[in-house]
Amino acid sequence: MSQIVHLCSKNCSLIIKLARVPEILHWGNKIEQIDEDILLSTERPISQARLDVDVPLSLCPELGSGHFNAPGIEGHRNGYDWAPVFNTTEHYSSESCAVFTLRDDVANLELKIEIELDYDSDVVKKRISVTNLEHSKYYLTKLSSTLPLPHHANELMTFHGRWSREFQTHRQAFSHGGFMQENRRGRTSHENFPGLFAGSNNFDQQNGQVWGFHLGWSGNHQLRADVKSDGRRFVQAGELLLAGEVRLDYMQTYSTPWLYACASNTGLNGISDRFHRYVRANIIRFPENKPRPVHLNTWEGIYFEHDPEYIMKMASEAAEMGVERFIIDDGWFVGRSGERSALGDWYLDEKKYPNGLEPVIEHVNQQGMEFGLWVEPEMISKDSILYREHPEWVLELKGYHQPSGRWQYVLNLQNKDCFNYLFERLSELLTRYNIGYLKWDMNRELVQPGHVGRPAVNGQTKALYALLDKLLATHPKVEIESCSSGGGRIDFEILKRTHRFWASDCNDALERQTIQRGMSYFFPPEVMGAHIGPDESHTTRRCHHINMRGMTALSGHMGVELDPVKVPAEEKQAFAHYIALHKQYRPLLHSGRSFRLNASDNRQHISGVQSDDEMLITVCQLAMPDYALPAPLRISCVEPGASYQVNLVEMPETSFQLMKQRPSWLDKTLILSGDNLREIGLTLPILDPESALMVHLKRI
Ligand code: DGJ
Repeated sequence: MSQIVHLCSKNCSLIIKLARVPEILHWGNKIEQIDEDILLSTERPISQARLDVDVPLSLCPELGSGHFNAPGIEGHRNGYDWAPVFNTTEHYSSESCAVFTLRDDVANLELKIEIELDYDSDVVKKRISVTNLEHSKYYLTKLSSTLPLPHHANELMTFHGRWSREFQTHRQAFSHGGFMQENRRGRTSHENFPGLFAGSNNFDQQNGQVWGFHLGWSGNHQLRADVKSDGRRFVQAGELLLAGEVRLDYMQTYSTPWLYACASNTGLNGISDRFHRYVRANIIRFPENKPRPVHLNTWEGIYFEHDPEYIMKMASEAAEMGVERFIIDDGWFVGRSGERSALGDWYLDEKKYPNGLEPVIEHVNQQGMEFGLWVEPEMISKDSILYREHPEWVLELKGYHQPSGRWQYVLNLQNKDCFNYLFERLSELLTRYNIGYLKWDMNRELVQPGHVGRPAVNGQTKALYALLDKLLATHPKVEIESCSSGGGRIDFEILKRTHRFWASDCNDALERQTIQRGMSYFFPPEVMGAHIGPDESHTTRRCHHINMRGMTALSGHMGVELDPVKVPAEEKQAFAHYIALHKQYRPLLHSGRSFRLNASDNRQHISGVQSDDEMLITVCQLAMPDYALPAPLRISCVEPGASYQVNLVEMPETSFQLMKQRPSWLDKTLILSGDNLREIGLTLPILDPESALMVHLKRI
């Protein structure tokens, strides 16, 4: 006898049919009342030349029952028990969550499927656990979470990238076959962000039905979207397990990472709004009412050249510009003269800092700023005291040559002594010095990550989480940034134990526009580290006016990444101006609803953030405008019946080679109604390529 389980949130319904196995009948817009005939109205025909039975696209599709696409579970016992088929034995459900227990009494496996629908954000999270009920070992090769998509999800938007070019998007048709992404880099990676969107034809920022997915996991993963030959479609995501990585003994359990997903009726804006709500309420742990301090990070300013007197000068200049937290990046610890040495030796370099770190920290604090320090705990250089003492702590496979990456190696965090050493070092630094913030870096991929000879990405990732958890339990006030050569480790699970991401090592404001937009679909602005870099970008050598740099950094968690001592006074004033602007709008930027508007000129990015009574909109001209005159800015997210006071906040000083005369409203305050703003819009000035303006709307 089939039963129906109905999970409900503010705007969303998830209806599950429970027969032999649970199967989602509907996931999307809210259904107030489920029809009594739903089981009949959703019954599928059996087509010719196929199996004589209907095969459900269940919450864990089984090869053994005739699901010929990617199964949700794969594994074996020395070649046996490789095609399990389950029966539901128990289930529990409430309005917001359901737990199903399934058993295969032949293969002796038990599955537990947990699915939760968060009321406020409409975000679904799902994970599966498998337990081995038999005394012989079960070799699990795959356990993934599957969620179905409706037939009108015809297009995909996927993510790709590389170092200094994270979060690039790619659109593709989704009508036959599918898409698959496999990440074997041992960290979340720049290349394969574990997220994707599927939606109705031509979905865009503001329109269309879209389903969004993110796997919260910082190790290897597999993410796929498939269209079955019968037209049904689904997304599946889970950890990518290396051969032999998970071997379950009697009564041992393996659980997948959480898969987060949501459905929107209002294009990508609806997706980011839901993910942001969820992340703010359930993932981010940040002291309430504490504004996110504006940073100055020393990396692009001085690299490895550390002179405490000079650093204190930098700090004074930073404070004058309005910086609130000063972070000493790489180069402060003993023997760290460049990239090739000293990782692992987390002791102050007393040659560089003969009077200790205390005078620098005191100076920073006296300037009214917090102090932060860079570390890269998971790494070891061969040229280090630690390596000379503990070469056996390297994560590698004995008998093979382990290649270096940035001339460094990964430490095996599953080795208890190594774990304890790192905890002791970090904890001692946090106890000895007044450090409010750690920039936690991770600059290489895992190759042959072996622990006692067996594959260990899963173990390494969990040990990293445990190290962070232990450190935060001991030093609950410290804030941590997740950095991994920029944006190589950005995901929901690491965010549970960190407070901010360094979005990219690319500080080129033009590149950042695309990187930050991609990231903004999943993460709210307050966790997106965005810094004003030098006028000539260190990664691209492209030069940008301060307007473009300031406006691009302003919309995230703002900072500055250069040597303020070397910057001319005029430029410093400009930094101070953008920092002040950021602080003025910080409460809105860091708590409001983010959105993007479709631009008629596809060389423009239009994005904004709104609360119930105000709104900031940034228009960035990425390249030469497509037409001689810009299209009016039509703002769809205003209340049609409300009135707004509209002001220009910021625009580039240049732009006068493309425009002889500016619209006169730029120097005035306009009063405009919501329906005018939505339908007629606001005529904008002409922007130079690579420049940006900002408009403020206040509801009156
Ligand atoms: C890579 C990071 O992404 C940079 O910001 C910087 O911290 C360097 N590592 C330091 O080695």
